[in-house]
Amino acid sequence: MSPKTGARKRTAVLISGRGSNLAALVSASRDSDFPAEIVLVISNVEQAAGIGVAREAGIPVRIIPHGAYPSREAFDAAIDAALEDEKISLVCEAGFMRIHSSEFVRKWEGRILNIHPALLPDFKGLNVHRRVLESGVTTTGCTVHFVVAELDSGPIIAQARVPVEPRDTKASLAARVLEAEHRLYPEALRMVALGDVRLENGEAVWRQRTRES
Ligand code: GRF
Repeated sequence: MSPKTGARKRTAVLISGRGSNLAALVSASRDSDFPAEIVLVISNVEQAAGIGVAREAGIPVRIIPHGAYPSREAFDAAIDAALEDEKISLVCEAGFMRIHSSEFVRKWEGRILNIHPALLPDFKGLNVHRRVLESGVTTTGCTVHFVVAELDSGPIIAQARVPVEPRDTKASLAARVLEAEHRLYPEALRMVALGDVRLENGEAVWRQRTRES
């Protein structure tokens, strides 16, 4: 299937920092055959470097600082309003460092993705690469999953494996995993945007391929 411009899914990316995954998604979506188009970037951090990535690419940015809202719910309501305003279909979290309210997650369920720099369900949470190195595992990787209320626990859409080398530091390992993230996230977004995988009754369900599709 080759999507016409009108059929591409309007996608927002939520960031808090560097924005290298945002850059990878933007770069993939420059291809007019890519089934999603990045039309909005939301940052909760005013100085996030990723804002520059978005502006350079000519993508509208909304800065929604969480500190300006009295509660998680009010902050999420502001994000939701921005998403509705821009008629967003899909949301990619890329280094977005806030936990959502259950109401927000319920509303966007099946339409919101996150990337995590480990092979979930292992190494959920923060300080992932340090914990990977301390554990002595020889393989790590990254995961794109549907977002559910529980942190880093949603149904898995795609994973990539990355070796842990004997002399790895946190920085060298993070760099190797990040390269894999930049390949994996656009692929996962493509699958979701095409409807090849969707969230159904709390599980990731893949479309059966027919001869024609
Ligand atoms: C990535 O490692 C991602 O897996 C994690 O936060 C980091 C964000 O990096 N959730 P960037 O802002 O996309 O460069």
